[in-house]
Amino acid sequence: MFRRVVLTVLVGGLLPLMAIQLLPYGRQHVNPAISAEPAWPDPAMRALAVGACYDCHSNQTTWPWYSNVAPVSWIIQRHVDEGRAVLNFSEWDRPQEGMREVADVIEEGEMPPGYYRLLYKAARLSASDAAALAQTLGSLR
Ligand code: HEC
Repeated sequence: MFRRVVLTVLVGGLLPLMAIQLLPYGRQHVNPAISAEPAWPDPAMRALAVGACYDCHSNQTTWPWYSNVAPVSWIIQRHVDEGRAVLNFSEWDRPQEGMREVADVIEEGEMPPGYYRLLYKAARLSASDAAALAQTLGSLR
């Protein structure tokens, strides 16, 4: 009986979990070179963005240890890839599609994403910080 439980857990849970660690996706944690940054009018606003946005919207992503553990790594990889594609503060020399709605998504509390705010204190912007950041980003070009 006990052996069966151990076997079931191993075969049903642990082995697949170990097997998916071998897949290459989610482990290419690249931080490409920074080609250009916005001209931040105020270093404090840049600091707010670094704490709340840069992990997904820059080439200065801090990759936590669990970003190497599948399947969490797949989710993180996708969010960083998609985040960078729409808005990348490290590639300011190319068009930034997300800038059209940047103030709205902050004011409406869509960004930073809820799960990220739970994980990182710096992403829990106070109402006044969120308003200031939204205004600053809205005026950046
Ligand atoms: C944990 C990752 C993560 C963080 C942190 C994050 N974003 Fe995003 N952001 C995304 C992803 C993924 C998308 C694209 C997919 C989507 O629309 O949800 C996105 C999309 C956007 C867009 C495009 C509009 C939209 O909703 O698609 C804007 C603008 C944006 N983010 C701004 C910000 C700002 C400003 C911050 C910081 C205050 C921030 N994001 C923090 C992951 C993140």
